[in-house]
Amino acid sequence: MAHMLEVQSLSRRFGGLTAVSEVSFSVDKGEIFGIIGPNGAGKSTLFNVIAGHYRPSAGTVAFEGKDISGRTSDEIARRGIARTFQAVNVFTQHTAEENLRRADVAHRSHNPFAYISERNRSGSANLNEVARFIGVADVLGGAAGSLAYGLQKILGIGMAIMASPKLILMDEPAAGLNPSEKKTAAKLIRRLRDERGITILLVEHDMPLVMGVCDRILVINQGKPITTGAPTAVKANPAVIEAYLGEEYEFA
Ligand SMILES: Nc1ncnc2c1ncn2[C@@H]1O[C@H](COP(=O)(O)OP(=O)(O)OP(=O)(O)O)[C@@H](O)[C@H]1O
Ligand SMILES: [Mg+2]
Repeated sequence: MAHMLEVQSLSRRFGGLTAVSEVSFSVDKGEIFGIIGPNGAGKSTLFNVIAGHYRPSAGTVAFEGKDISGRTSDEIARRGIARTFQAVNVFTQHTAEENLRRADVAHRSHNPFAYISERNRSGSANLNEVARFIGVADVLGGAAGSLAYGLQKILGIGMAIMASPKLILMDEPAAGLNPSEKKTAAKLIRRLRDERGITILLVEHDMPLVMGVCDRILVINQGKPITTGAPTAVKANPAVIEAYLGEEYEFA
């Protein structure tokens, strides 16, 4: 059977800089697949190409057997790929509820009549269900900016799942979180897969989290793939350790 996501020899150049260089990997439905690498390795760029924010310079991305390379981000979102961002991207002045509703409206904007009609009601049910799932049901009415940082990032995940995606690209969901918020984030990532069947592509610097939740991990450095494998194999790979030399990462 075809893989859910198949990335083949993908490259992205910015002028003379090759940010992503001939990266290939595939992700199967139901996997939690990690992408790690030092700062500037090309992880966010890779996400931006897969999600259609940047066009590939070379190579292809196929989703559910269809080539999506070079399609617009809207088109790719409509096919079932959502993403969360490295920085918090909630509207801080708006309530948590408005943030989720806006995400919903954005997803439905391709068919405005669907939004106005009875789907409006099912939209509210979806919103409440997502709010409960991510644990913000009790703070829906408060300004998103007044929530703890960890909850703001979790709200960003909620915004991504409003569209009921098949695949989520998560860019550093644990960055800036305290240890207890990190545990909540790790649990949420597992629940997204286990309870909602969402396949997850995870970029994250927190090694215990990545090693703890991922089925397989791709390591890239300076745009180039180093290895792909199970967490234990990746952790023990000398080329991986070398890529991280001089950086303060704990592979515990
Ligand atoms: N829009 C852009 N224009 C020019 N160069 C860019 C652009 N986006 C990224 N780059 C460069 O591409 C390289 C990879 O950046 P990228 O943000 O993908 O790394 P990253 O692995 O996500 O790093 P980090 O872990 O710090 O988030 C860097 O050298 C960066 O400066
Ligand atoms: Mg990045």
